[in-house]
Amino acid sequence: MSPAETTDPAAEQPVTEVGPDRGTPVIEPDPAAGMHVIEVGLGDRSYPVVVGDGAVSAVAGLVPGDVRRATVVTQEPVRYVAETVAGSLGNLLGSEPEVVTIAGGEGAKTLSTVEELTRRWVRAGLNRRDLVVSVGGGVVSDVVGFAASVYHRGTRVLHVSTTLLGQVDAAIGGKTGVNLPEGKNLVGAFWQPTAVVCDTATLATLPPRELASGMGEVAKYHFLGGGELLDPAGDGARTMDMATRVAVCVGIKASVVAADERESGSRATLNYGHTLAHALEIAGGFDLRHGEAVAIGLIYAAEVARALGRIDDLRVAEHRRVVAAHGLPDRIPGGLDPEELLDLFGRDKKALSGVTLVLDGPAGVETVTGIDPGVLRGALDAVL
Ligand SMILES: NC(=O)c1ccc[n+]([C@@H]2O[C@H](COP(=O)([O-])OP(=O)(O)OC[C@H]3O[C@@H](n4cnc5c(N)ncnc54)[C@H](O)[C@@H]3O)[C@@H](O)[C@H]2O)c1
Ligand SMILES: [Zn+2]
Repeated sequence: MSPAETTDPAAEQPVTEVGPDRGTPVIEPDPAAGMHVIEVGLGDRSYPVVVGDGAVSAVAGLVPGDVRRATVVTQEPVRYVAETVAGSLGNLLGSEPEVVTIAGGEGAKTLSTVEELTRRWVRAGLNRRDLVVSVGGGVVSDVVGFAASVYHRGTRVLHVSTTLLGQVDAAIGGKTGVNLPEGKNLVGAFWQPTAVVCDTATLATLPPRELASGMGEVAKYHFLGGGELLDPAGDGARTMDMATRVAVCVGIKASVVAADERESGSRATLNYGHTLAHALEIAGGFDLRHGEAVAIGLIYAAEVARALGRIDDLRVAEHRRVVAAHGLPDRIPGGLDPEELLDLFGRDKKALSGVTLVLDGPAGVETVTGIDPGVLRGALDAVL
């Protein structure tokens, strides 16, 4: 378990202060109910991430004391979660916030959604001291987080994450943004939330492919210090429940973000497995979810690391075992032109000079630059 994590909220600094003027009790997550509280340590912008089955009950207790109004943004499949959140905010604030539903899919992550939301917030009388709440997966937290970052030059946002990918990745760390017709995530801002709530009970309604997408990221964390994810007792028995798994991943992401908030260095390790994954997503036509592409990318990265003498056969086998244990693919489906994928590596926006890959090695996962194109080409054979 990450040092950043505690399952005992009493041992934390108070996660929130509710103004005495409102006189509302703070709803603390209940450790007996299996709640985890992980702190993202960013000085005066630090915030808690509450993880567990039923964690939505913690939302009202996380609302800063000076908030007078709130608004909730969601998508249709999780409107039921948003209504619960709005109900508890209504009890806290005295008037129930509006619940706005945006469209599903990447198509909703646009500047026009930002315009539509912010205009609604003006009409609802929301000012910069109030609170915006997102309820949904990465699409909702990305677009709502970005809209909050620019509304009145910065308004507080609380994310209630309802997809596995959102809970272990997108909702944590303050990256927000929208797409342009020219590409994904091209307009955005770093805007840390006030708090994040990951209610693992909401994952029960998540379609299996969406769950698989999150599993790709969970598999990634295995190699970023999360070795216990598959083997918590060290005896090969898989006994970790989903809430604890999410909490372990959040703990890893929290420590990486705390060490390098704006990705000037070590935060790039979170892109482990992502260079090939992004190329597969851009090349398209493979019907792969993000996490499935990441899984193939993890195996590919392991093969490149072995070819460079950075890791041995056992460690490559470990990559294959972890990907298989998460029920994820280890090969690129269908025929494809390897040259096209290699070309796309250079276009990955994370590539700083030449082809840069995040690779495993004796010192753990790190960024490696200037990799021989022959090695990159040769390792592709292992995932074709
Ligand atoms: N900001 C970051 O650091 C970061 C990191 C990783 C990914 N992202 C972004 O996240 C997005 C992908 O997020 P995602 O994988 O969560 O997809 P998503 O937000 O599109 O959600 C997937 C689908 O599941 C539905 N859904 C959500 N929760 C549900 C639930 N509990 N039950 C049933 N249906 C539910 C959604 O409405 C949607 O249709 C991408 O746009 C990506 O760029 C951002
Ligand atoms: Zn990812």
